[in-house]
Amino acid sequence: ENIPVSDLLADPVEKIEQVNCTPHPAIPLPVEVFEPARKNSFGIDLEDSVDLASLEEDVRAYQMPDAPADATAEDVTRMVDQAHAASLAWADTPVEVRAELLERMADKMQERMIPLIGLCVHEAKKTYQDAIDEVREAIDFCRYYARRARIDFEEIPLPGPTGETNVMRLGGRGVFACVAPWNFPLAIFTGQMTAALVAGNTVVAKPAPQTPRIAQAAVDIAHEVGVPKDVLHIAPGGAEPGAALTGDRRVAGIAFTGSTATAKRIQRTVAEDDDRPIVPLIAETGGLNAMFVDSTALPEQAVMDIIASAFFSAGQRCSALRLLLIQEDVYDRTMRMLTGAMDTMNVGDPADPATDIGPVIDAASQEKLCGHIDHMRQRIVHQIKVPDFDTFVPPTVIRLDEIEDLEREWFGPVLHVTTWKQGKLEETVRRVNALGYGLTMGLHSRIADAAEEVAEEARVGNLYVNRTMTGAIVGSQPFGGERMSGTGPKAGGPHYLPRFAVERVVTVDT
Ligand code: SER
Repeated sequence: ENIPVSDLLADPVEKIEQVNCTPHPAIPLPVEVFEPARKNSFGIDLEDSVDLASLEEDVRAYQMPDAPADATAEDVTRMVDQAHAASLAWADTPVEVRAELLERMADKMQERMIPLIGLCVHEAKKTYQDAIDEVREAIDFCRYYARRARIDFEEIPLPGPTGETNVMRLGGRGVFACVAPWNFPLAIFTGQMTAALVAGNTVVAKPAPQTPRIAQAAVDIAHEVGVPKDVLHIAPGGAEPGAALTGDRRVAGIAFTGSTATAKRIQRTVAEDDDRPIVPLIAETGGLNAMFVDSTALPEQAVMDIIASAFFSAGQRCSALRLLLIQEDVYDRTMRMLTGAMDTMNVGDPADPATDIGPVIDAASQEKLCGHIDHMRQRIVHQIKVPDFDTFVPPTVIRLDEIEDLEREWFGPVLHVTTWKQGKLEETVRRVNALGYGLTMGLHSRIADAAEEVAEEARVGNLYVNRTMTGAIVGSQPFGGERMSGTGPKAGGPHYLPRFAVERVVTVDT
């Protein structure tokens, strides 16, 4: 007899037992094995493991190695040949072995903090704080996925209502393509690669063309600690290796972080080949991320968090604040404080520890952003002067009439601002949702119910209340969006690894 859905919802466990089926065994939550700490998810204070006094000297003296050569389409085919040949043996490796390798990678990264920070500062133009955070996040990904893998890849016993035994096992899919961005060239590159590897896949990883050395350093570490060379390959370069990799029929899964347009192009490539298996795409893409400030917000805290969310990392985080929505009554006051605080920001050489904001990644990005600023020049509310060397973009605030005037993501230190009216919070959240993206959202309010109200309405992956809206911590704030912002599952979250795996059920009748 069918139990009405409403009854099931009222008392799921009891009702499921009634239909002769034991409830799923409780799966331990990651929090039992993963205790996020203030500095680092593992309680390791990376600032303490680096001698901050000599960091500047060490980083300035650091000589970057030569960049690895770009891979050609033929190189990629050879890498996929080898990865494909190695995939069965790697999938058969006990998960404990794969997890142990990730932990060794984490240890090795910690040992190599200084050169890794040096690479992040010199190759990716990161400030010291961003470089330290970057290495910390990469280490967190290694350790978190190692611990999750031991849980997720346990055989799951399932009920056998007619006396048979049922078990479910997760296993590798085959060759995984991991395509990473330049804005988190170590953390995201390492996160994708380690998730795919520990789930039992062999990997061909393509870093962004702007940051091949950092990726090479991560792959070297993996090989040094024992990941076999035929299991993990790096294919540096741009469109040529990218197209060869995602277009190879033997690639059984793709993890991609980058623009929404490129994610869609990959989806088309995969779908167009009629003879290719149906391949999962795990995509993390862009966002039109809004922060609401209401009249009860603590102005000093709101302004500090706006600055950090919109301008730090030169606005080059997919989580960064793009659209500031200030309640009309406090617009003038908030803007006065914000523009005053912007004047105290230090924009300059990332190798100078006093720098808050460095240049953007390259001249192409600088040109796009400056073109947008120039196009909007009548609407500029405030702008900071920047040095005239390198690829700086002036941190700029642009006033919009309507939310809908923000049509696309500008990946840099450009903040758009407009107002909303008291009593219209939910309606305004819905208008932000209607822009189509769903990555991060922020709220500054001291009204107790406001957070829940926004959480119920917002269609975003990560909502941050009364804090910055960047800097998700592995295991504590699993990161990733929905709709135009990505497919999920969330990086650094409990559902990430299974998406890299196949599920197989074995039923044995007695
Ligand atoms: N994970 C980053 C953050 O939370 C964005 O990619 O800021």
